[in-house]
Amino acid sequence: MAQSLRIRRVAGALGAEISGVDLAQELPDEIIARIRHALVEHQVVFFRDQELTPAAQVAFGRRFGPLNIHPFVQGMAGQPEVMEIVKEPQDKVNFGGGWHSDMSFLETPAIGSILYAVEVPEFGGDTLFASQAAAYDALSPGLKTTLETLSAVHSASREYSAKGHSAQKRAGMQVAEADGYVGEYVHPVVLTHPETGRKALYVNPAFTLRIDGWKTSESKALLDYLFNHCRYEGFTCRFTWAEGSVAFWDNRSVWHFALNDYPGQRRHMRRVTVDPWPAMAEQAREAELAAAR
Ligand code: SIN
Repeated sequence: MAQSLRIRRVAGALGAEISGVDLAQELPDEIIARIRHALVEHQVVFFRDQELTPAAQVAFGRRFGPLNIHPFVQGMAGQPEVMEIVKEPQDKVNFGGGWHSDMSFLETPAIGSILYAVEVPEFGGDTLFASQAAAYDALSPGLKTTLETLSAVHSASREYSAKGHSAQKRAGMQVAEADGYVGEYVHPVVLTHPETGRKALYVNPAFTLRIDGWKTSESKALLDYLFNHCRYEGFTCRFTWAEGSVAFWDNRSVWHFALNDYPGQRRHMRRVTVDPWPAMAEQAREAELAAAR
């Protein structure tokens, strides 16, 4: 098994396809370690021709950390960690149709997301990924230094409020509205990856409200600049799905964007979202506190 794992990069900034592995099997620790290494190195990894039941997807995900239960999106009956991401032919809005980093609106954001394609449209429905490590690397030394002194406030309020993008009507999913206060959490604008030591920008248009300690109006110019910079085509890769494809991305260094270009067709995916192991979350919190001091 170990010898048959092959890793092929798909773009300059990020992304690699891994072949020679059946994710539905109970994989040896060595293979899991190699997948994890590939994930943090390439930031998003892709697998083809997998057959994952919800239980097998949960079992695979749990090898990387505890699984998150989404606070607003109803999980599968009996398998609450599995989110069904469905766009029905009559739906106008898709889930994840804007640049974002999953769960940055939580106190302890998810480290990774594993998305499995159950049913894909005949054309369209690709997912774009953008390396926030490449986006950080491309900044000037002066701006890097400034950004490293800043933290930003993240919240689900904009996306999951009654007027938010995610709350718009979809036939295929149950997305709850955030009623009332959903919390605001502060994360560093520049995140040092706990496993690679590589730095990445950690702000995103969906969930970052403002720079901590700044007014929203003051933050806007800087955040608009960063959001525009971070989606530069040279930092991206694009994945075209087939049934049985899997994408596994590192939310600490990657944005993603689900394209909504397949009107009248159905797309059905299943996602599990990996939280950090408690010790890792503790380390990350300590690093955040140290950065804020
Ligand atoms: C997501 O944002 O997790 C959904 C991505 C996709 O459906 O391609």
